[in-house]
Amino acid sequence: MAIERVGVIGGGLMGSGIAEVCGRVGSDVVVHEINAETAEAALGRIHKSLARAVERQKLDEAGRDEILGRISVSTDLAEQTDRQLVIEAATENEDLKKQLFRDLDEILTDDNAILASNTSSIPITRLGAVTKRPESVVGLHFFNPVPVMALVELVTTVKTSDSVSAEARAYAESLGKTVIAAKDRAGFIVNMLLVPYMLAAVRMYEAGVASAEDIDTGMKLGANHPMGPLELTDFVGLDTTKFVADVLFDEFKEPFYASPPLLTRMVEAGLLGRKSGEGFYKYG
Ligand code: CAA
Ligand code: NAD
Repeated sequence: MAIERVGVIGGGLMGSGIAEVCGRVGSDVVVHEINAETAEAALGRIHKSLARAVERQKLDEAGRDEILGRISVSTDLAEQTDRQLVIEAATENEDLKKQLFRDLDEILTDDNAILASNTSSIPITRLGAVTKRPESVVGLHFFNPVPVMALVELVTTVKTSDSVSAEARAYAESLGKTVIAAKDRAGFIVNMLLVPYMLAAVRMYEAGVASAEDIDTGMKLGANHPMGPLELTDFVGLDTTKFVADVLFDEFKEPFYASPPLLTRMVEAGLLGRKSGEGFYKYG
């Protein structure tokens, strides 16, 4: 089955990027958002990212308009009915994702439609288990910023069929991404390694070992990372980082996955990083 009609659930940091890369390869994309305001914000993010590509002469204006012509944003889940692949990229919350998977399973008319989640950490098996099509459920984990990052993790469960796994891989590869395969364990490959490192940096900062700037400069210049760990936590979102830490801790019970009190307090205070204007740093 050639995948031509794609749905993206949630048009936040990740969903808007996923919609863009799918639109770029010619897919017809419908993004689902919760209300008019978040729908407009999602479209705004896609416009901004494409404007950046035009500015950098990576795309001409006609190309931008063609891509935009293939992407629509809706607040009506029924507009997902005819999708062949739906990539869920809503807030990292298990109950929310389960409800979306139940609803999507009910309304998708194509029995072979694939339901994928971009979750950073939640086991895909749990999402498949609430549907009547667990063989068609996979994880397709993109990285932020989606148009730039070359990786997608393909997560299959004990129920995922080989043909669905192959189709999901082929579609992710058609987006120009390198696909790595992971078993269904919280955090998959990258976040199982990356998140404890980010949490360790928060603990180091909380303990007063060094300033945020010096911790970040240390890892940028001392280990050649493009961003330091606190800058990266701001970039990912402190809320998302905490959700992921909680899921990892719940799965493995290892102290290095536990959310440091400072991270928890910052999330409670609405300091979510770049997306809220302040995290470990302030943004204009
Ligand atoms: N959208 C689209 N394109 C973007 C972009 C965005 N949000 N941000 C940057 N770019 C593009 C720029 O257009 C530019 O492209 P060209 O070189 O083709 O012109 C390129 O990326 C570099 O951008 P800049 O020169 O403006 O900035 P930079 O060199 O500082 O790079 C960065 C920005 C790519 C984000 C870099 O800092 C980086 O790689 N940071 C680390 C990102 C990372 O680790 N992501 C993974 C997070 S963890 C995750 O995603 C998993 C999870 O589940 C939490
Ligand atoms: P975000 O907060 O930027 O966006 C989430 C979006 O989901 C919001 O726009 C919100 O309005 C929308 N949403 C919430 N409930 C919804 C519903 N019922 N229907 C439709 N839309 C709904 O979060 P994000 O960073 O884009 O993360 C989204 C998913 O991607 C999460 O599962 C996260 O773990 C994962 N992820 C995040 C990153 C990252 O670096 N931020 C990287 C990889 C994967």
